[in-house]
Amino acid sequence: MKTEEFRAQFPGLKREVYGKPLVYLDNAATSLRPESVAKMQCDLALNHNANIHRAVHKLSAEATDIYEESREAVRAYINAKDTKEIIFTSGTTFSINLVANSFADAFIHEGDEIIVSQAEHHSNLLPWQFICHKKSAVLKMLPVDERGELRLDLLPELIGKRTKLLALCHISNVLGIVNPIKKAIEIAHERGVKVLIDGAQGIVHCPVDVQDLDCDFYCFSGHKIFASTASGILYGKEELLNAMPPFLGGGEMVGTVNFRESTFAPLPYKFEAGTQNINGTPTLIPALELLKQSREGEVKDALEKIKLFVYQALKSNNRVHLYGDPINFEDKIALFSFTVEGAHHEDLALILDKMGIALRSGYMCAEPLVNRMGCTGMLRASFAAYNTMQEAEYFISSLDKAIAMLI
Ligand SMILES: Cc1ncc(COP(=O)(O)O)c(C=O)c1O
Repeated sequence: MKTEEFRAQFPGLKREVYGKPLVYLDNAATSLRPESVAKMQCDLALNHNANIHRAVHKLSAEATDIYEESREAVRAYINAKDTKEIIFTSGTTFSINLVANSFADAFIHEGDEIIVSQAEHHSNLLPWQFICHKKSAVLKMLPVDERGELRLDLLPELIGKRTKLLALCHISNVLGIVNPIKKAIEIAHERGVKVLIDGAQGIVHCPVDVQDLDCDFYCFSGHKIFASTASGILYGKEELLNAMPPFLGGGEMVGTVNFRESTFAPLPYKFEAGTQNINGTPTLIPALELLKQSREGEVKDALEKIKLFVYQALKSNNRVHLYGDPINFEDKIALFSFTVEGAHHEDLALILDKMGIALRSGYMCAEPLVNRMGCTGMLRASFAAYNTMQEAEYFISSLDKAIAMLI
């Protein structure tokens, strides 16, 4: 498939902003929605809308079937052993909060330690801060170096006798560097430490095989991989999920209930209390098909060429400082966070917006990391498989114009 064919599935790319063709480079925040996903969500809402796992009527059976089909699609995509290991949530943030609370209830005690890296999104930092405060546990930090690469060499000595969990991003949403998570998991497991991977960006750009990785938890969001918003995933190893108490109480997560005590439903339902995203979660089925297409053949090659072009253009501009510049270029994804000497990131973002270019600016929900890099904000251009070389060239020439207006 060619990029143009892939791109044609996203009607949003045909729109204009301020009279200019939209150039959407904020894909790390959320992807655009393809027609197949929007149509499915609409069809489910209009024609198959019923609550799942509850009633015996036909509509409910249809809604349940499609919901469970999407669980199987996710299981197959990440090669989990069983659909029991796939918990649907509203997104990565919810998935991590679920683990933080439920894992902590079962396994974290006063004086225990949790390690997170310096490159985490707030979603993979604050839940652990909360838990450490609540349990009087200790939060430790694995640093990154000047290039943004993880100091994995420091991990063995950081892990102590009381360390229970390592929570690490697969790819930072600021640095765009693929972390050596398999190695990190090995180091942690050799020392009896469980590992949660924040895969919000990783699932977009890397093949994920949870059995091969051997991670204990892997979390991601549907809305970054073309599916509906609020369709999130928590993968967890069955024995761990079984050992953890439910996070939320409510309908359909129960076995038997009496006034003082209750028993809980088996996995995965134990962690899915209340009405689920019944019209949205099934859109993971067409979305995962698109994600596969985005990683194949000409579409994938075209994105690689864009990555090289933008990287070289930004590096050759001596006013631009790029953050996330790994020694091995293969570890870099087409996501570029940068600052421009003499020009404020917000001013540049506003000017580029008027030129039709959607970028992210600011802390990007990773304030400790942005501060570590010596900044109080950055600009970020994050590309997806539907972006074209023409758009990349327009971005670079527009950036030059915007800089010239400010300096
Ligand atoms: C690395 C990373 N982790 C977590 C999140 C949070 O994802 P969500 O807002 O979908 O829960 C994001 C979102 O940008 C992210 O990039």
